[in-house]
Amino acid sequence: MNIVSANAGYAAAHAASLAAPETYWAKAAEGIDWDQRWDRVFDPATGPYGRWFPGARMNTSFNCLDRHVAAGRGDQPALIFDSAMTGRVESFSYRQLTERTAKVAGALAALGVAQGDRVVIYMPMVPEAAIAMLACARLGAIHSVVFGGFAAAELAARIADARPKAIVSASCGLEPGRVVQYKPLLDLAIEMSPHKPDACLILQRPQAQAAMTAGRDHDFAQAEAAAAPHAPVSVAATDPLYVLYTSGTTGRPKGVVRDNGGHAVALHNSMRMIYGMQPGDVYWAASDVGWVVGHSYIVYAPLLAGCTSVMYEGKPVGTPDAGAFWRVCAQHGVKVLFTAPTAMRAIKQQDPEGKLLAGYDLSKLEALFLAGERCDPPTAVWAADLLGLPVVDHWWQTETGWAITAGFREFGLFPVKPGSGGRASPGYDLQVLDDDGHLLEAGKTGNLCVRLPLPPACAPTLWENDAGYISAYVSDFPGWYRSGDAGVIDADGDVWVMGRTDDIINVAGHRLSTGSMEEVLASHHDVAECAVIGAKDELKGQTPVGLVVLKYGVNRDPAVICTELVALVRERIGPVAAFRDARVVTRLPKTRSGKILRATIRRIADHEAYTVPPTIEDPAVLEEIGKVLG
Ligand code: COA
Ligand code: AMP
Repeated sequence: MNIVSANAGYAAAHAASLAAPETYWAKAAEGIDWDQRWDRVFDPATGPYGRWFPGARMNTSFNCLDRHVAAGRGDQPALIFDSAMTGRVESFSYRQLTERTAKVAGALAALGVAQGDRVVIYMPMVPEAAIAMLACARLGAIHSVVFGGFAAAELAARIADARPKAIVSASCGLEPGRVVQYKPLLDLAIEMSPHKPDACLILQRPQAQAAMTAGRDHDFAQAEAAAAPHAPVSVAATDPLYVLYTSGTTGRPKGVVRDNGGHAVALHNSMRMIYGMQPGDVYWAASDVGWVVGHSYIVYAPLLAGCTSVMYEGKPVGTPDAGAFWRVCAQHGVKVLFTAPTAMRAIKQQDPEGKLLAGYDLSKLEALFLAGERCDPPTAVWAADLLGLPVVDHWWQTETGWAITAGFREFGLFPVKPGSGGRASPGYDLQVLDDDGHLLEAGKTGNLCVRLPLPPACAPTLWENDAGYISAYVSDFPGWYRSGDAGVIDADGDVWVMGRTDDIINVAGHRLSTGSMEEVLASHHDVAECAVIGAKDELKGQTPVGLVVLKYGVNRDPAVICTELVALVRERIGPVAAFRDARVVTRLPKTRSGKILRATIRRIADHEAYTVPPTIEDPAVLEEIGKVLG
């Protein structure tokens, strides 16, 4: 493994960021072009814990695009779209991306979208998805991107909460072996939502033609062609740039808000500090624009930093083979690749000796960054040995928008400890607290918490829901942000993230709520009660398993009921839930007060040792669970 000594520069930067956060972030803010500078760097009195850069004005799209054209980067590729699904590769220079964004902003404005309006974007991985996001940013409109793998009901819930003026979508997405028709899902979602958008902008892809609703739906290409380019609108740094819904502990998704100014500052800073990127370098986040990684590192950060961003429509394996990632890296001269551990596991499973690497020139690739779930050490070591490069696991969340812990290429990476997520990023005072809120010493496992205030780019609140933000993140331990992850910080300061303390699971790097799956199972007419847990999975890290107790008197074939339950979750939540395993049991293990012992069920499913909880109502029930999950 390539071990590079950690640089004292990290310790100095981290210490400086905590000792004088306003000085640290004011300096980082020099990387952004402001229309008006801030009144103060941080105002602790506004919002659930304060706001960064109040009084400042800027435009994120201008900072991602126009300023680079003005600085002479107009002909440099800004976005390279590579579709393994269609074989299409298309490069957009900064000038071209600016022009297209300005026109799409004009098209949205012509449909009545103005500053502060919400725009839902439900799109596959096509350049127009990034352009639509940047076009919203240009207008000061607030985009809310919904991942394409969600079903109509999930999309409807997001439309209902965000109340968009317009929706941007496409006729279809492309998954291996099937064309996913987006438009019928969108039509159904709009029908289900109490809120209706005024207009929809639909990208017709050649693989499927969407039926258009007269008066509401507009053709993306025609609207773009007819539009007048729109100039960037100056917005307050504290105005929302986007709302991204993510799984919470209830079935209702949480609308994580990102502001404009702090987001631009922290993401721009991260490109150099964490990933070691310079303007003109090629960066590839192999994720999806529907997830936070896609927002931050396919669209915003690489463009803020004047880099070239690669956008990939395809999978790590099967499109056409497990060499796809190496092909893309070689073809586009990628310097840093960022993906989820599950993608590496998929490649390792199909090509364990890395034979498909041969023939690709990866001389430009300098590091592999992983996030979305903890990377298991064998996969991290495999990738590092195969590539002969540093492999950096870094921990973050939709809520933070950038890494809470990482390795930092600017300072020299830390000695490699496979399984660790690195050290706290400058700006984060990360500590471990016990359940009573007391600080724990190094080596002790507890709740990973960040002392408030969170650094710029972290969510200042939830969409129209300060109270929800406070109860979800900052009320349990006053003065702290509770991450919802458990972990330990060792004596070197390296952080080991052990997993969630709530019912959120990570399936193939996708964050899902078992609570929302339970809601779906419980709605089946034959189900009396149920529990969904995340069981260990070789490829996807975790997969959901549902245990259901049938209502008294139901005598239908349990196998048929289980098939119906699998179909129901797919229909209500979407294929991304990857819910394929439902089993019938006669009882669920519960405490005497009626709480289902999900952690014990998970341990049984994972064949881990467990102690019978003293509060259990009837220990005999565990025997049946063992047999059913065995
Ligand atoms: N639109 C529609 N359907 C989608 C979709 C999308 N954007 N993304 C995934 N799906 C579907 C898949 O086709 C699959 O459907 P199926 O049940 O009919 O097979 C289902 O959702 C589950 O998808 P996934 O969990 O991704 O499994 P997979 O077998 O298709 O692929 C991997 C497995 C490991 C290759 C894939 O999960 C992967 O590349 N993961 C990386 C995740 C990632 O980038 N996360 C972002 C955090 S950095
Ligand atoms: P998301 O909001 O989708 O990015 O998911 C965030 C959650 O994914 C975190 O709370 C963690 O549980 C998990 N996660 C993300 N990255 C890592 C990592 N590098 N190591 C461990 N867990 C991670």
